[in-house]
Amino acid sequence: LADGEIAARLLAWFDRHGRVDLPWQHPRTPYRVWLSEIMLQQTQVSVVSGYFERFVSALPDLPALARASQDEVLALWSGLGYYARARNLHATAKLCVERHGGDLPRDLDALIALPGIGRSTAGAILTQAWNDRAPILDGNVKRVLCRLFGIDGWPGTPAVEKQLWSIAASLLPDARLADWTQAQMDFGATLCTRASPACAICPLQDACVARREGRIAELPAAKPG
Ligand code: ADE
Ligand code: SF4
Repeated sequence: LADGEIAARLLAWFDRHGRVDLPWQHPRTPYRVWLSEIMLQQTQVSVVSGYFERFVSALPDLPALARASQDEVLALWSGLGYYARARNLHATAKLCVERHGGDLPRDLDALIALPGIGRSTAGAILTQAWNDRAPILDGNVKRVLCRLFGIDGWPGTPAVEKQLWSIAASLLPDARLADWTQAQMDFGATLCTRASPACAICPLQDACVARREGRIAELPAAKPG
């Protein structure tokens, strides 16, 4: 399959099965996208939704978060765990007021320079908040790409990760970048799952190396040792 065909098929799948009612999608502002992505880094959607609603009701925009006390931010975060995320979130809000006029920067390197935002989260923000063209590579996407392209080696290895970033970039469609990001996440979370991928109904089954070679259970490779 050509790269463009993979994106086209996944987007068509997304139109039928993708999640379009997540709280941070309505309205989809840069602040709400960023906050949801930080919450979703280590917590699943079903848990995040309620915390997200509570957080944005109390602190509806980035300047409000920057002005809040650390105690208030930690109280709103309480229950989500991994509290470094809340401290980074607060620090980032203050930095955005200082450096970027109270908004998140619409720039990959400027986003990555902020606490708590790595390359994949930056891509998730740029695509969902502005429809900009940037790849993501979270755990779900790594698993899907390792299977689809038959990539050997643990995805945490720098060489493998570099290869996966390059594939993720080559697959980017020319339009619908927010949907593309969400399509990959939803596809990994609901169809090409870790334990039981639904290959028989997969729109990419004819292109999938792992399926063709009977290696679905082996890919992605486990962490060595
Ligand atoms: N995990 C990280 N970002 C996500 C999103 N936008 N939707 C679902 N799961 C996610
Ligand atoms: Fe994943 Fe199976 Fe589809 Fe391959 S055929 S991408 S392993 S669901």
